[in-house]
Amino acid sequence: MRVLSGIQPTGRPHWGNYFGAIRQYIALQNNEQAFYFVANLHALTSIRDRALMQQYTLDAAIDLLALGLDPNQATLFVQSDVPEVSELCWLLLSGTSMGLLERCVSYKDKVDKGLATVAGLFTYPVLQAADILAYDSDLVPVGQDQAQHIEVTRDIAQSFNHQFGEVFVIPKAYVLPTAAKVPGLDGEKMSKSYNNHIEIFESPKEMRKKVMRIATDSRPMDQAKEPDGDLLYDLYSLFVDEPSRDELAAKYRRGGFGYGEVKKQLADAAEAYFTQAHERRQKLVANPDEVRQILAAGAAKARAKAAQVLARAQDACGVTLNWTR
Ligand code: TYM
Repeated sequence: MRVLSGIQPTGRPHWGNYFGAIRQYIALQNNEQAFYFVANLHALTSIRDRALMQQYTLDAAIDLLALGLDPNQATLFVQSDVPEVSELCWLLLSGTSMGLLERCVSYKDKVDKGLATVAGLFTYPVLQAADILAYDSDLVPVGQDQAQHIEVTRDIAQSFNHQFGEVFVIPKAYVLPTAAKVPGLDGEKMSKSYNNHIEIFESPKEMRKKVMRIATDSRPMDQAKEPDGDLLYDLYSLFVDEPSRDELAAKYRRGGFGYGEVKKQLADAAEAYFTQAHERRQKLVANPDEVRQILAAGAAKARAKAAQVLARAQDACGVTLNWTR
């Protein structure tokens, strides 16, 4: 089975990216044919600075490797290194209805937030569909916010197949219910654009400062509380095993604790959780050429696959002279 997913290099990854998606990338890389990429073409709708784009792209690859992505198991590459995807995107765009894209929540959200309404933002889900379809992907691990884009991909693929024959594999989203929507400091979805995020690779000191800012209610110290749905408890649960989670749940139900104490526990758990990744990252930063080699090898492998699928799609809709029927 082919697993595929992408992450935008729009800044450093945060806890939401990790638990919502990256952790699943790594869990799936052993048994499946996994393709993961840095979506720099998607990021071009918001990053308009050459040096920053280059830096963030390399950083994103380094971060994924540091977090446990193994280039001997998974194929890691940069989106723009596979130009077949952009070409496939046009084939898909030509048949995508405006209505389908107008209904996309992420576009509407961005417009509401005042982001420039460039055409690339509107057609963003079609490039995402090309990303997925170009590699015959079966499963796409993502957070809940991307689930609609996978639905759009399925719609686009089904409609193309309906018109031109069985060209594309119809993919499925893989959304882990326990981490589908990781909350940020204010309880809303953790997101760079809401500025409520905690980055995986910020210094432990900075991370602690942010944890201390997490919004809590005004419950008095001695009062018991139901843990489920509590922001601190939910975040803590992401980092620890079941016994530690149950222990905190029992503490909540007994009462007699302060949120400051739980925040400290959360910061300790988060720091311990990412210690190894921090160490691996330092080594990778010192060897950017090694990372570039991994990306080049990944791109060659990804391109070979995308070229096959593009040729199939071109043949099906008759935009090549090398047609097979
Ligand atoms: P991006 O870069 O915004 O996010 C990367 C991944 O992180 C997940 N995520 C979250 N999951 C749970 N809780 C959160 N608070 C949270 N915040 C982010 C996202 O769901 C995503 O899985 N359009 C994609 C990039 C992309 C892509 C693709 C993904 C381009 N082409 C093809 C899959 C397949 C994006 O902007 O992700």
